[in-house]
Amino acid sequence: MAIERTLSIIKPDGVKNNHVGEIIARFEKAGLKPVAIRRQQLSQAEAEGFYAVHKARPFFKDLVSFMISGPVVLMALEGENAVQKNRDLMGATDPKKADKGTIRADFAQSIDANTVHGSDSLENAKNEVAYFFRETEIHG
Ligand code: TYD
Repeated sequence: MAIERTLSIIKPDGVKNNHVGEIIARFEKAGLKPVAIRRQQLSQAEAEGFYAVHKARPFFKDLVSFMISGPVVLMALEGENAVQKNRDLMGATDPKKADKGTIRADFAQSIDANTVHGSDSLENAKNEVAYFFRETEIHG
């Protein structure tokens, strides 16, 4: 299987509730290596740009407000089948529908405060990793 890179974000609720270490441990145990990592307070412009595909959706404004409500942890994860593996570890968008043992089932409060972001395709993963990290900040 191909080695891929994907973008993971531990959202403000995950950081606030001190789940950073536990979430990264789940990635490492599953063979996803954080090859770039940064804790950051997103600006409104950065959050709007990142979620631009959702601009027309009714939840866009609240999503951006939530994403800038506190620091996040940005990571590029590298490993076999990284995009799908990360999505599997995250669980469904709505934590009520997420499978048992997934990050969202275990840590998320609601569909909007759902603890983690993960790229949903290889093409988006490339763009999203590049949105936050320069090649010189990524060390495999
Ligand atoms: P989406 O890309 O559909 O989900 P995922 O994060 O699982 O790839 O949506 C992006 C984010 O938008 C989602 O993580 C939380 C927020 N969101 C809402 O607040 N309400 C909603 O009804 C949906 C679909 C998403």
